[in-house]
Amino acid sequence: MKLINRRLYFDYNATAPLSESVINYLRNGAFVFGNPSSIYTEGREARKIISETFDYLRLLFRIPNEGHEVFFHSGATEAINSLVKGMAMYASSQGQKFHFFYSAIDHSSVVKQALHLPLLGHEAHAISVDSNGEIDIEVVIQKIKQQKGLKLFNFTQVNNETGVVWPLDLAIRVKHETDCFVHVDAVQTPGKIVNWDNPHYELDSYTFSAHKFGAMKGVGFTILSQDMPWIPMHMGGGQQKGLRAGTENTHGIYSIKLALEDLTRTFDAQAVKMHKDTLEASLEKMLGAAGQITAKRAGHRNLNTINITFNHEIKIELLIAALDLAGLSVSSGPACSMGMPVASRVLLEMGFTERMAKNSLRISIGPRSSAEEMARAWEIFSTVLPKYLDRP
Ligand SMILES: Cc1ncc(COP(=O)(O)O)c(C=O)c1O
Repeated sequence: MKLINRRLYFDYNATAPLSESVINYLRNGAFVFGNPSSIYTEGREARKIISETFDYLRLLFRIPNEGHEVFFHSGATEAINSLVKGMAMYASSQGQKFHFFYSAIDHSSVVKQALHLPLLGHEAHAISVDSNGEIDIEVVIQKIKQQKGLKLFNFTQVNNETGVVWPLDLAIRVKHETDCFVHVDAVQTPGKIVNWDNPHYELDSYTFSAHKFGAMKGVGFTILSQDMPWIPMHMGGGQQKGLRAGTENTHGIYSIKLALEDLTRTFDAQAVKMHKDTLEASLEKMLGAAGQITAKRAGHRNLNTINITFNHEIKIELLIAALDLAGLSVSSGPACSMGMPVASRVLLEMGFTERMAKNSLRISIGPRSSAEEMARAWEIFSTVLPKYLDRP
């Protein structure tokens, strides 16, 4: 047990450990079990904790009382699928064509919509990025203006692999200068940028995923303008005003409130940035000509993410295993397939070679990672990493 506790977990962009209040809630075990749609006592108890979460989100994110809805779902993958296909379905019902604009470095749940939309008679338009993972918003605006019909632009505020931040002002310009609806993938924002709790409601929708900020897995929420023209994908018992039918994940939803309360109570943006910057500077020095910090020159980067690309074949899976053995969990940017790294789609889009896109390391620290943990992580890096940098 002690050994497990001594491990260093630096893969917060993949998922976050459960926050303290969520652990206490689960440990306590005094769960309400009623169906939140039932009108008797047990049902009302379940409804109460969902309502508390709902009210808390309205307060925390300053969601306007009029014109915006919040609904819970099983996570961002579901929400993005529901919104995109739901808008496509709405367009079809109106005899319109639906155009979906997305960045080639968005999460797979966004990018893969391009496979489904043509099957439904609609169109998806990928927007490329430069070597720093940035988009040219003028190009986006021109692309959108060229199309007629119902349009949606997916704007990923923080990239999960590189930590590059796209300021919301860019999305607001798209909204002002085109007739496009905008969905913000805000999954990687809580605890990872300043002002993560301050959405701009000129934009039409924001999606968050609970497991990225210390709540339970398989649950998330979307804030949505009532003007969004879509037909929700989940039909059923009419829960959540029909925005997402299905019996609510009561405990998962309540864990969102608990985890966000913990996060807002303890979040210290300066400390997270200082920890990240210090480790990054040391790693950069150690890398020398062997590698570099990815997107170092991007206009805006988040507080917690360091992505390293190596200039020679490094056998990234062996490096990750060696760090793991030493007690440190970090990931290669791209996912692994059967334990072998695959080239990162994001890095390939940014212009990296196949070899470099296969050899990247992502370190994503947590909002409560301590100075002592950072020092121990550096000790591990400085012992393990040089062995992998020596090769020609
Ligand atoms: C930017 C981004 N969008 C969407 C998702 C999908 O989230 P979920 O795990 O809730 O389906 C992720 C998960 O890694 C992500 O990082």
